[in-house]
Amino acid sequence: QRSLLGLKALSKEEIESILDRAAYWEDHPVKVHQAMQGKFAANMFFENSTRTRFSFEVAEKRLGAEVLNFSAAVSSVQKGESIYDTVRTLESMGIDVGIIRLKPIGVLAELATKIKVPLINAGDGNNEHPTQALLDLYTMRKHFGQLKGLSVSIVGDVLHSRVARSNLWALRKFGANVSFCTPPNMQAPELDASYISMDEALKADVVMMLRVQLERHESGMLSSAENYREQYGLTVQRAAKLAEHAIIMHPAPINRNVEIDDELVEHPQSRIFPQMENGVPVRMAVIERALN
Ligand code: CP
Repeated sequence: QRSLLGLKALSKEEIESILDRAAYWEDHPVKVHQAMQGKFAANMFFENSTRTRFSFEVAEKRLGAEVLNFSAAVSSVQKGESIYDTVRTLESMGIDVGIIRLKPIGVLAELATKIKVPLINAGDGNNEHPTQALLDLYTMRKHFGQLKGLSVSIVGDVLHSRVARSNLWALRKFGANVSFCTPPNMQAPELDASYISMDEALKADVVMMLRVQLERHESGMLSSAENYREQYGLTVQRAAKLAEHAIIMHPAPINRNVEIDDELVEHPQSRIFPQMENGVPVRMAVIERALN
């Protein structure tokens, strides 16, 4: 039984085996398999989610698992119960795997030392979002055939982005060249990364736009949405400069017409909805790994 807390600590071979297994599940599109029959999966989201939560639920159901959905907003967390007591409660009821999204960094790592069932990180503050990065790598590998040598520009609010961190750490293991393009107040100085201009960022094989995470901002970080779009947004005009083979990615949710123009979300070069589609087989592979 194996937890998945992040990609920084995972080997290239382990990541590759998850991607390969996801490809297997994509190639075997039976609605419901029996791999997890009789097993209970608990989705414990202490922070809001649409894609991650529902794609884990679809993945669990496609593996034949029984699914428990915990939502902090309608739980005893509202009466002051701690995260540890909540997870321990579900463990005591006999769950086989816990999928957890948390706001405070460090709590998940501590939980994993105390909870015996495998835990899967579904978003850990601004630290890591491993299943998002796995589906991002899967999407890139599917399009380009391999990750080695790819140039990837990650554009936007890197400071608050767990997606940027997991992608940086994972892509480097495969020999991809990752650069960041951010406003000066949205850089992450603790990350050893190169920062490039928007013009440079547009030359990459993959242009990954990030959501401006207003809910994590201190006041005054964003002067205006229009100003941000003008300086760091992927506008129709800028997208015209992309190489023909290049792809546009975004983890979503999207602030349309802020970090990316409305017309580009479903542009032929965009992989934004395929990213979401790929999330299901990737999460099937991650859950299976946790239980085997
Ligand atoms: N990409 C992502 O994590 O989306 P949600 O917040 O909707 O899960």
